[in-house]
Order: sequence, then structure tokens, then C-alpha cells
Amino acid sequence: MNKQSLIIDCDPGVDDAVALMLAFGSPALDLLAITTVGGNAPLAKTTRNARMLRQIAGRQDVPVHAGADRPLRRKPAGAGEFHGEEGLGFMTPFAPTRPVADGHGVDAIISAVNARPPGTVALALLGPLTNLALALRREPLLARRLGAVAVMGGARSEGGNITPSAEFNIWADPEAADEVLRSECRVTMFSLDVTHQVRATEARIAAIGAVGTPKGDVAAAMMTFSQTVEREIVGWPSLSGWGPPVHDPCPVAWVLKPELFTLKPCKIAVETQSELTRGHTSVEFRVDAATAPHLWAATVDADGVFDLIVKAAG
Ligand code: BDR
Ligand code: CA
Repeated sequence: MNKQSLIIDCDPGVDDAVALMLAFGSPALDLLAITTVGGNAPLAKTTRNARMLRQIAGRQDVPVHAGADRPLRRKPAGAGEFHGEEGLGFMTPFAPTRPVADGHGVDAIISAVNARPPGTVALALLGPLTNLALALRREPLLARRLGAVAVMGGARSEGGNITPSAEFNIWADPEAADEVLRSECRVTMFSLDVTHQVRATEARIAAIGAVGTPKGDVAAAMMTFSQTVEREIVGWPSLSGWGPPVHDPCPVAWVLKPELFTLKPCKIAVETQSELTRGHTSVEFRVDAATAPHLWAATVDADGVFDLIVKAAG
């Protein structure tokens, strides 16, 4: 089998953790590296969390590189209310046995992509886009060498989740998102419009927990934590068939099985000036499909995404 090379840039984060379990358990992926960024929690915690998760999954072969500890221009934000103060919900932190890899996350991305044929390394970005923006500043030609660039971020018809008009990852570092979207990278965006279609219902969490492996247990525990906080913060009703959105696995699921999603060609711009609408993604669909710079995920087969997560847990 020809494996797809993939780097995951993330800020674990309960839904980042589910995405990592999906990637760790998917033999179709050649996971080159995990790079971390400050986002849901400070960099020291997101990096430790990535190392904890790799150890639990038995994937100590995958290097974890620490990246940017702050946005390009803004103050670090944090999303402790949705992920817990340590970033992984109810999970008690421990000291992972394998250390963080040498070399900054930005350098790790550049060298992994440059070491392989153009177009062959995909990048899944599950946190603020600071690391990719810094990599493109240092090496603009990277945009042409990268394969798929799959971003969890943005919001349009669903509205925002950190402000009425913005999604957390783009809001946290809007200048970085702006630089990435203005670059030659062909970004495929998995915004709240699509991740809100992927809900962790009781039945789906139970199916993942029933696999009975450390990977499955972690994924189920993360979703259970999200249920608890979403019930308190967002106040969704305790109805069967309902559940919190599971954002970050979407880009990884797309790399594994693109047919689960429909995409619309578009051009995306990010608001960086107004404080009111900071990080809003303005999406223009009236574009020439052949030359449109970006793609916007519109619909998803959510059962298909959860099937991948269950399979990866085994
Ligand atoms: C995104 O923000 C973070 O809190 C989550 O991990 C996800 O990447 C959702 O808006
Ligand atoms: Ca994230």
C-alpha cells in the first residue's frame, strides 16, 4: 500500500486528541511528525499532551516537535473552558517517557516537506495557523511543495464559537490565517459549517469505547468531556441523537477518505482589522472553479467519519 505522508500541526485539546488517535491508528498514513502550537492551552501543555497521547497510542516512533508559543501579533488566548486547564479534559497529566524532538516545529515542517517529492506531504492543521505562517515566511516556496493543506478553522453559515462571527483557531491568530490564505497554498478548509455536522452522540461514543483499547478509551473519554462542558456552556439539550461537535478529526478523515466530504471552490479572506469581527472568514463562492485558490468543505458523511475513528481505535 502506498502510504500518504502526513504532518499534523495541533494544540491538544480534546478534539485534537481524537484526531491524533485517528491518525495513530490508520495504517494508510505515514505520520512524519506532530508539531505543536500554543492554542487551546499554552505550548508547554499542548506539547506534553501530544507526547502523552503518542505514548498511550503506542506510537513513540512519531516525533513531536514544539512550535510557536504565541500568535504572530496577538496575545496567547487559551480555551480552557472547552478543554480543561490541562487541555485533555478529565485526563490526569503524566510525564511522558519520550522527550520532545530536537528542532523547532517550523523547521521540522520545512525539512520534512523539502526532503520528499513535491506534492507528496499533506499537512493537517488543527490549531492556530502560526507554525505554517512562520514556515511560509521563512520558505515561501514551501507553498508549492506542499501536498494537501487541510485546515480546521473558520465559520460562515454556522456563525462563530469564540465570538458571534469567528471560530477559535482563526480568531486566535488571524494574521497567521491571513498570511496562509494569501499564500500559494491551496487550503481546504473544514470550518464549523461542516464540523457541526459531526456530533458525538451517546451511541457513537459508546461504539468507540466498546473497542476496548487505549486509543478507543481516550477518544471516548475526550468526547464525554466535551458532552459535559457543552451541556454546561452551550446548553444543548440532553436528547438522543444530539451531541457536541467533533472538529479536529475532519481534516484527517478527509486525507484518509476524501469521498466523505463535498467541497466547494472559493476564495477565503480573514478579518484582521475589526475587533468586533476579528478572525471572521469571508468566503466568496462566485469564483472560477478551475482557478479558485481554496476549497470549503460543505457537507460530510458523519457516520463515515465515526467509522474511521472506530476502525483506528482497534
Ligand atoms: C477548534 O478550536 C479548538 O478549541 C479545537 O481544538 C478546534 O481545533 C474548534 O473551533
Ligand atoms: Ca485544535
